[in-house]
Amino acid sequence: MLLQTTPNTLIDLSRKTDGSQDRAAFANDVADGLSQNPKQLSSRYFYDATGSRLFQQIMALPEYYLTRAEYSLMQQHRSDMVSTFAAGGFFHLVDLGAGDAMKTKLLLSELVKQEKPFNYVPVDISGSAMQELSKDLRQTHPDLLIQTVVAEYITGLQWLQQHLPERKVVLFLGSNIGNFERDEGLEFIRQIRRHLKPGDLFLLGVDLAKDPATILAAYNDASGVTAAFNLNLLERINRELGGNFDLDAFKHFALYDPQLGVMKSFLVSQREQEVYLEATQKRYTFAAWEAIHTESSHKYTLQQATEMGRSAGFEFVTSYLDEEGGFADMLFKAI
Ligand code: AVJ
Repeated sequence: MLLQTTPNTLIDLSRKTDGSQDRAAFANDVADGLSQNPKQLSSRYFYDATGSRLFQQIMALPEYYLTRAEYSLMQQHRSDMVSTFAAGGFFHLVDLGAGDAMKTKLLLSELVKQEKPFNYVPVDISGSAMQELSKDLRQTHPDLLIQTVVAEYITGLQWLQQHLPERKVVLFLGSNIGNFERDEGLEFIRQIRRHLKPGDLFLLGVDLAKDPATILAAYNDASGVTAAFNLNLLERINRELGGNFDLDAFKHFALYDPQLGVMKSFLVSQREQEVYLEATQKRYTFAAWEAIHTESSHKYTLQQATEMGRSAGFEFVTSYLDEEGGFADMLFKAI
């Protein structure tokens, strides 16, 4: 097959070369969010270099059970997962938001072990993370076929649809779906479905509804790493948009709503204050105890997650759970 001899490549579909458009979009979104009532900032901006490092620390926290739960369920079920993925012959393993691919590597080594023909396609908006990952995989799996795509999810999927038309297995792991509000999450999965063909597979990592105290602790850890992660958003605004946020005047606050299944994180202004942004040349005022909503992390029941897949045009195949039953990788097939 021609593809098997194609050298590994890195495709960069991100918007800029010098970062200028990225900064303008960031400034716009921040100006928008801080002018709204209630105020909000998008969690997609957490992940600059510092934020990515803090997120790595979060994943190792005793309270943050999500990563360990998904890792262990994948360890336990990888052989079954890989046989199911590869049952239709050659496929592209598309890893949306691959990051360091810590969990996907379990599947990669299993696929190699079982000698299944596939092409690994990590898609991530972080160019530095993708360069590191492809370097890392060249060393650990020199024979792997890899096409690395630096892009936003949907741009990446469009590119794949045009350039890699063969069968696909799409991974969207780590409860990244949780950052979308309920309706946006469904719309995002519909978008994924639109870029697939009948028979293609989709593996969705979902954090399941559980004891609210367990969930709350995961986003309100004792050592304060999550607080630092949240506050880094203001630091990033100071750094990149010439803001003058006083980080000591804001505090991290997190709450879980067990009826809506949503964890919400805020940055609360501890006094009345004004913040100026050079990038927008505007002032933003905060009343005492006014909060900025910075993140939602949605939790699903198995039934809700199954229903979401079905409404997006997939058939439910199976769900792989960790031993405690707190996290699921749900397998769907495009119909
Ligand atoms: C990367 C979106 C899965 O919501 O659990 C961790 C990000 N925020 N702690 C999550 C996060 C605070 C994380 N996701």
